[in-house]
Amino acid sequence: MVDSVSIRTQSPEQTRRVGQKLGELLQPGDVVLLTGDVGAGKTTFSQGVATGVGIGQPLTSPTFTLAAEYSGRVRLVHADLYRLHDEAARSGRPLAELLAEIGWEDELESDAVLLVEWPGVAAAGLDALAIELVRAPLPRLDERELRCRATGKRSKQRLDEWVKRWLF
Ligand SMILES: Nc1ncnc2c1ncn2[C@@H]1O[C@H](COP(=O)(O)OP(=O)(O)OP(=O)(O)O)[C@@H](O)[C@H]1O
Ligand SMILES: [Mg+2]
Repeated sequence: MVDSVSIRTQSPEQTRRVGQKLGELLQPGDVVLLTGDVGAGKTTFSQGVATGVGIGQPLTSPTFTLAAEYSGRVRLVHADLYRLHDEAARSGRPLAELLAEIGWEDELESDAVLLVEWPGVAAAGLDALAIELVRAPLPRLDERELRCRATGKRSKQRLDEWVKRWLF
């Protein structure tokens, strides 16, 4: 079983499709972490995941709400902690304190699928599928590399099932 693998996409639609294939096999309690620069494609990928999970409504960027919950075949919590990291840096308050205020522990313990943009240390130590989205050098504007890594037994299993689906 592999624990790290990467795939290239050539368009936002392709990134959504790859995300959709993952969404189709996610199970309650799975954690998916999305990192990469602003505009790398984390939300685009998340939209595909939501479709795969069977969520009918459009998934939007939760930057200002921190987290949004959707229900499909399983419950999906889509979080974007960018603003929280920003607030920690500006206020000098520890991130752990800000996380406690938004009830982050409860999100981690819930049986929803947790999909997190800008996780930072909020997801340290979790068994998670970590995906870094990386832009290609110019002029390949619409190309991204998705570097995927599983950090535990459960996420390895999911990565394995997902990679098999890339081929079909
Ligand atoms: N191969 C690709 N995969 C994903 N997005 C792509 C690709 N090519 C071009 N794009 C474009 O890049 C942008 C990605 O935006 P998106 O909001 O998904 O990024 P993000 O990583 O969530 O950013 P942020 O950190 O601000 O939340 C979109 O405008 C999308 O159309
Ligand atoms: Mg985003």
